[in-house]
Amino acid sequence: MDLKKYVTVVENWPKEGISFKDITTIMDNGPAYKYATDQIVDYAKKMGAELIVGPEARGFITGCPVAYALEIGFAPVRKPGKLPREVISQEYDLEYGTNTLTMHSDAVKPGQKVLIVDDLLATGGTVEASIKLIEQLGGEVVGCAFLIELTELKGREKIAGYDIFSLMEY
Ligand code: PRP
Repeated sequence: MDLKKYVTVVENWPKEGISFKDITTIMDNGPAYKYATDQIVDYAKKMGAELIVGPEARGFITGCPVAYALEIGFAPVRKPGKLPREVISQEYDLEYGTNTLTMHSDAVKPGQKVLIVDDLLATGGTVEASIKLIEQLGGEVVGCAFLIELTELKGREKIAGYDIFSLMEY
């Protein structure tokens, strides 16, 4: 299936000069959503994933069906103030300023093989922070899977040494 047919490119959103890749038109199409999920499921099996971790919010809609299909768990990476129990935090740099991401302290078991799933690899800041959180909890990141990789932003270089799987490149 040519998945790119189901991505809607929205020019100059959320601001002038940005060519936004809208994946909601994958999700609202049953066969396309299933196809995308199945590709990541196959990759997750190959890498021996025991837990899926997905960053808020589009990492949830991309990662949760993968966890469901494999009958393994899903753990969320969230913005501060969203998780109700003890958390660990990781800061990362944005173009202007910083962001913080959190995970529950017991979300990953020591030695657990973890696959990170998100819709998009852009600068790589989100996935790099997620890797740090998982490793701080003793997990082993076996791979990172994305629907879309924006190659010009070189996110791949930020997580060199980790296995990366992306379904589409722009
Ligand atoms: C987007 C996307 C990834 C991240 C990728 O999330 O879903 O998580 O940015 O960018 P990066 O590689 O430069 O870190 P966003 O922060 O827009 O949050 P959302 O999914 O809640 O909209």
